[in-house]
Amino acid sequence: MPRAKIAALGYYVPENVVTNDDLAQRMDTSDAWIQERSGIKMRRYFTPGKDTVANMGANAARMALERAGMDASEIEFIVFATLNPDYMFPGSGVLLQRELGLNAQAIPALDIRTQCTGFIYGLSIADQFIKTGMYKNVLVVGSEIHSSGLDFSDEGRDVTVLFGDGAGAAILQATEEEGRGILSTHLHADGEHAERLAVLKPSGHEPRHITHEMIDDRGIYPVMNGRYVFKFAVEKFPAVIMEALKTNGMEPSDLDLVVPHQANLRISEAVRHVLQLPEEKVFNNIQKYGNTTAASIPIALNEAWEKGLVKDGDLICLAAFGSGFTWGSALIRW
Ligand code: ACO
Repeated sequence: MPRAKIAALGYYVPENVVTNDDLAQRMDTSDAWIQERSGIKMRRYFTPGKDTVANMGANAARMALERAGMDASEIEFIVFATLNPDYMFPGSGVLLQRELGLNAQAIPALDIRTQCTGFIYGLSIADQFIKTGMYKNVLVVGSEIHSSGLDFSDEGRDVTVLFGDGAGAAILQATEEEGRGILSTHLHADGEHAERLAVLKPSGHEPRHITHEMIDDRGIYPVMNGRYVFKFAVEKFPAVIMEALKTNGMEPSDLDLVVPHQANLRISEAVRHVLQLPEEKVFNNIQKYGNTTAASIPIALNEAWEKGLVKDGDLICLAAFGSGFTWGSALIRW
């Protein structure tokens, strides 16, 4: 049975750098508070008129294609993860397909909405299609523009300071090489907590999808019970990494690198302590980009790979937790 390997990675971050001090000019916050609670020093914000969710994803995909030495026409299937698509419908997957000039080939584009776990769900979907032999080359993209939907008043400061914009992509390819590629993926969700981290309006079940009141009442902005999310995240991250290791008969000490979804540096640190891993085995770059949701793992994995921290034969674990709640892991022999 073929296995899926990550043939190449790419990423794109918008050029506009926004520091904590920049945010402190717009709301009651401080560089010290943000760094102490989250580790974040800066993030990127998109440029309206230039960046879109789909074209940021396409830029990331082009980098991956170039690194893989592939032409876009070799892609057979697109899996696109975002929580903030360009349009309510259609999803951004078809827009990315068009950006890459693949519409004439009419290849399928699947949009998925599992927020911070989007990239892991995407990898798992691609893995299944490759294992069954249906496709040989699948493009998985996570792309997010958060900044257009954040509340820059003092009321929104707990959420707003955490998030940034960006995109990441991976090309998954079929391989017959024994013991190489994605060894397993584990996906989970618990809808009980759906409203603890959410954007509730506009809403399909309201009498009118969007109203002036929704805007005036700030109902269109993300809501988050930060402490509640934190508590679950520090429990589920290690659990789903251990699930991956146990399935493959391995221990935390076998890992060469963990690349967690970049939610909060304190969450990553807590996970590292539970798994008793040394500092250099858990990769973090939230300091530079904030939380970019579905894009955070591919952006971080790109950076780790560029730094030479992801080498052939290494055992890499990707893990995520986020809104839904959803969580998951992917164990990869590079
Ligand atoms: N700047 C300054 N002060 C702030 C800010 C801010 N940006 N935000 C909140 N505060 C204040 C609060 O009002 C509160 O003030 P009070 O004590 O006078 O009431 C004080 O700081 C402490 O607030 P807490 O919410 O208790 O702070 P906490 O230590 O829990 O940190 C945080 C908040 C960073 C949100 C933390 O709970 C957290 O990281 N939770 C996880 C959130 C997360 O990771 N979400 C995303 C993951 S899922 C996904 O990626 C979709």
